[in-house]
Amino acid sequence: MDYSSYLDLPRLLGAQNPVSRARGAEAHDEHLFIVIHQAYELWFKQILHELGSVARIFGGRALDESDLSQAVNAAERCVKIQHLLVSQIDVLETMTPMDFLEFRDLLVPASGFQSAQFRMIETRLGLKRAQRLGFDGGAFDDDLPADDRAAIRALEAMPSLRDEVGEWLARMPFAEVTRKDGPAYDFSAAYTAALDRILSEDMVRIAGNARLTEAQREAQTGALTASHRRLDALFDDAAFAAQAANGAWGMPRAALEAALFIFLYRDEPALQLPFRMLRALMDMDELWALWRLRHALMAERMIGRRTGTGGSSGYGYLRATAEQHRIFGDLFALATFMIPRSALPPLPGDIRRSMRFRYER
Ligand code: HEM
Repeated sequence: MDYSSYLDLPRLLGAQNPVSRARGAEAHDEHLFIVIHQAYELWFKQILHELGSVARIFGGRALDESDLSQAVNAAERCVKIQHLLVSQIDVLETMTPMDFLEFRDLLVPASGFQSAQFRMIETRLGLKRAQRLGFDGGAFDDDLPADDRAAIRALEAMPSLRDEVGEWLARMPFAEVTRKDGPAYDFSAAYTAALDRILSEDMVRIAGNARLTEAQREAQTGALTASHRRLDALFDDAAFAAQAANGAWGMPRAALEAALFIFLYRDEPALQLPFRMLRALMDMDELWALWRLRHALMAERMIGRRTGTGGSSGYGYLRATAEQHRIFGDLFALATFMIPRSALPPLPGDIRRSMRFRYER
């Protein structure tokens, strides 16, 4: 065993074979183009490795504190890798469009669109086939080799990370607790009352704002009432189901109620790991959107408004995916219902105590 054989370097370093070289006139930047794609594929592989371990942990029947800690570490590692994925674009952008055009036509019809690992990451996270933007009338995996298509179909048949996190959150016991003494604690009632107070104060402020025109006043009160209705639906199965059927939500209602509870009371010791998990999922979602946007802008810089080598509209398609291919948008939407920390209804003492760790000698 030595460094080179352990890392299988002869194969790894022998895998950069510019097509332009084979054609007899090597384009200098094709080497960078290949290395950067290969580096991406290696990081995609590592992300799939981490997501696989998160899925195994969440897929188990019970999730204890140390399992959750491992899952959080793996998710946070994915986030760090994604920062690299975004910043690697800077390196590729040192290539100019003319240098790219030197070898671009030799690549047709190959395209990053055919990255099977990228599709597996999207699928594993929870991007659904129906949610994907189409182009050219075909499905995103039509041009992949049969075994890659089968692997993606197999992943689609399994619960995604979003499904698993949704189930885990929905099982959280804190949002509605039966107590030994006194009435059951109902988070939704306590929180709706606090939010009602804030909304009524906002309504009074809008009514008393002499600078607003009648139309502005109506628009602002309308927006407040609408966000109130959305909050009511978060605590009501039938109203929530109607909104979810219109595509407003992707996770189950009970999961989102628990997520809101975690965001609000995240200072409680028992909620700190769940909070880190939710934050890592939001970081992932935001960084994929950022990568999509940076990649779209990079593509625009390289090829302007030309169509892609894989046949899409190019920039327009890529940019739209940044908006459309989100996975954890629900968690972001919960911020609509947040109130200042100072207005948060205090948790009953026994519930708080049940969320603290106690060390005994
Ligand atoms: C000169 C640099 C690049 C240009 C001009 C470019 C352009 C494009 C275009 C136009 C598409 C849309 C599909 C098509 O019509 O081909 C695409 C898709 C894609 N590219 Fe790139 N790309 C570049 C570099 C990269 C790199 C370094 C990666 C890293 C793996 C990458 C990964 C992808 C992926 C994953 C997709 C599919 C995106 C989706 O469908 O959401 N691309 N690229």
